Amino acid sequence: MSAGKTGKPSGKAAAAQDRANEGSPAAAKALARESAAAAQDVAAGDASGAGTAQSPEALAARLRSEIEQHNYRYYVEDDPTVDDAVYDRLMRALQTLETEHPELITPESPTQRVGAAPSAAFASVRHAVPMLSLGNAFEAEDVAAFDKRVGDTLRGAGMLGAADETAYFCELKLDGLAISLRYEDGVLVQAATRGDGQTGEDVTSNIRTIKIIPVKLKGRAPRVLEVRGEVLMNRSDFDKMNDAQRKRGEKVFVNPRNAAAGSLRQLDSQITATRNLRFFAYGWGEVQGLPRDTDAAFEEPAPGVAAAAELPYDTHGEMLGWLAELGFPVNTRHNHMAQGEDGLLAFYEHVRTLRPTLPYDIDGVVYKVDALPAQKVLGFVARAPRFALAHKYPAEEATTTLEAIEVQVGRTGAITPVARLAPVFVGGVTVTNATLHNEDEIRRKDVRIGDTVIVRRAGDVIPEVVGPVLEKRPKDATEFVMVKQCPVCGSAIERPEDETIARCTGGLFCAAQRKQTLLHAAGRKALDIEGLGERLVDQLVDNDRVKSLADLYSLKSLELASYDRLGKKSADNLIEAIDRAREPALSRLLFALGIRHVGETTARDVARTFGSMEAIMDADEDALLTVPDVGPVVAGSIRRFFAEAHNREIVHELTKQGVHPKPDEAPVGNRLDGKTLVLTGTMPTWTRDEATRYVLAAGGKVSGSVSKKTAYVVAGEDAGSKLTKAQELGVTVLDEEGLKALLGM
Ligand code: IVH
Repeated sequence: MSAGKTGKPSGKAAAAQDRANEGSPAAAKALARESAAAAQDVAAGDASGAGTAQSPEALAARLRSEIEQHNYRYYVEDDPTVDDAVYDRLMRALQTLETEHPELITPESPTQRVGAAPSAAFASVRHAVPMLSLGNAFEAEDVAAFDKRVGDTLRGAGMLGAADETAYFCELKLDGLAISLRYEDGVLVQAATRGDGQTGEDVTSNIRTIKIIPVKLKGRAPRVLEVRGEVLMNRSDFDKMNDAQRKRGEKVFVNPRNAAAGSLRQLDSQITATRNLRFFAYGWGEVQGLPRDTDAAFEEPAPGVAAAAELPYDTHGEMLGWLAELGFPVNTRHNHMAQGEDGLLAFYEHVRTLRPTLPYDIDGVVYKVDALPAQKVLGFVARAPRFALAHKYPAEEATTTLEAIEVQVGRTGAITPVARLAPVFVGGVTVTNATLHNEDEIRRKDVRIGDTVIVRRAGDVIPEVVGPVLEKRPKDATEFVMVKQCPVCGSAIERPEDETIARCTGGLFCAAQRKQTLLHAAGRKALDIEGLGERLVDQLVDNDRVKSLADLYSLKSLELASYDRLGKKSADNLIEAIDRAREPALSRLLFALGIRHVGETTARDVARTFGSMEAIMDADEDALLTVPDVGPVVAGSIRRFFAEAHNREIVHELTKQGVHPKPDEAPVGNRLDGKTLVLTGTMPTWTRDEATRYVLAAGGKVSGSVSKKTAYVVAGEDAGSKLTKAQELGVTVLDEEGLKALLGM
């Protein structure tokens, strides 16, 4: 790699570079415009020109060498050292620079080809029809511009009415690797990777191991058919494979795409066969010699004219339907027709919500003009079609520096190591913290302080550190050492040998545990005290004003208003919320106490069995064991909790403060007696909590996972894998209406 870390160029050289840089203000700006994270990534890769001034030539050379190295790592070694976002930013910087200085473009520039040269291990395959890439869009405006360009061209060609909108075929942009499958007389004869778009690698024997790919076509096949699509790996298979790799002490892959690529580029196809790869067809290359009886109108090519593609249908959608009939997996479940810009954007938004529930990774959606004659008129620019566009989602993974590992103390004293990160934009937000779960996890992932790490944030899931980029590990990277004393209260940290979680032994003596206990008690599923947030709890506990749950009930509006950032109105509202919580359902108060192993459902079962807090406090283990679903662990935990004088004291204090729980309502009827239901997706009128309450009230149970024992799955909008599982297992699926009918409502 080129030098870049040497610090500021001094004297004359610096002045010369400054001048040179002035000649390329936009390019310099382009680099500077890249997010701070990108600049940092580029800098970390030693190829940065971001911070230091340099000539456009030098900048281009450095960007190219950096990009080429990444290409090699990615395509040839299947082991990239940076994530896509960083790579894309480098490419964009180079593209901007070349647009500005066309004289700098060379035929070897990475912008002039799609991928890297195929490795020598596999034979080369020249694609009869090149494998193209897609133009990218990130913003709605880019989509609007695309739709306008397409519409204008088609109207100009008389293919679209003045007031009509273009019809698009919309697909998921699968995050795997493109493959071209060649069939002659219905038999798979060759499979090739995309390579640089012109020449790929022959991976036929590996492709043959993928069971989902037909080796012989169904029905009557054309003489020649090249089918294009994506090979990918489901996330669950990826996790399983990495676990197995780890156990054998072999290399783990950073994400399913690289795992799929690595699996396909195995020299030993028996290994490929174990990897459970999938495939979806989304296009075609050469098509020749259609069977005469193909049930479709097509034009004979003019005599003597070699048609590049002789197709039986004239829309993309119908073509995919044909491929499906021939035996190819097509993503019919998610493929979708849309009209004009609004239709495209609606699809994009719809898929955004769906994305976290998909079993595989996608990095965007693809819009394709549906009419093939229209595609032809639109044609191609450079290496991408003008009739299609990839609309991408923000990257779910990015790299950044792990600056420190701190620990957090939870409600039950659990110590969670938290990664403090240099700010990085990932999954649409700037992330500075990510969970590291526990000590073992840190060792397993081998992340060290100072490492460059891959951070993942998918959907609304808490950001996570995936692993280190070992190539970038600094010499002084340090391993995490678990603290021996609680950083908040100084009590000893203990970790039973058979457990992964270390805990602070301070109990409610520990301010951190007290704070979390109060926040838990105020939560929506417990006492539902709106307005009691983290900041206020911090102050109340730090000032020793609130030592236990009972103290909350003695707060006065006037004193609250004196706390930082709490207005009179908010203080009044909070006092009202506290007052409303003086008559909670017994189950909610029990849950609010935060007894280990006593979740919402257990609290409800226990409350229904005993009917009063006194009865629960006095229940012995045998009595507790009579509660449905309560075993020795839960019973023991409840016993131990109330055996502590200070816990009993809290309950007495609560009574003194006028807190009088009411018995939980008995189940309404028994329509769902003993039946287990699974709720998934968004229901039109009920929230998940509401539906749960009704099910429980009718004697049913709610579970998080579908099994043969599930009586019903209630599926709302965007129901994902649970719905699929229900269908697989033949479990009855209901919508909200169906559930209401079941409940007699
Ligand atoms: S169509 C002429 N459709 O994205 C257009 N590509 O940048 C050819 N990809 O190499 C591609 N899902 O690996 C198309 N539904 C989809 C896709 C898709 C993923 C990938 C493919 C291609 C890259 C294009």
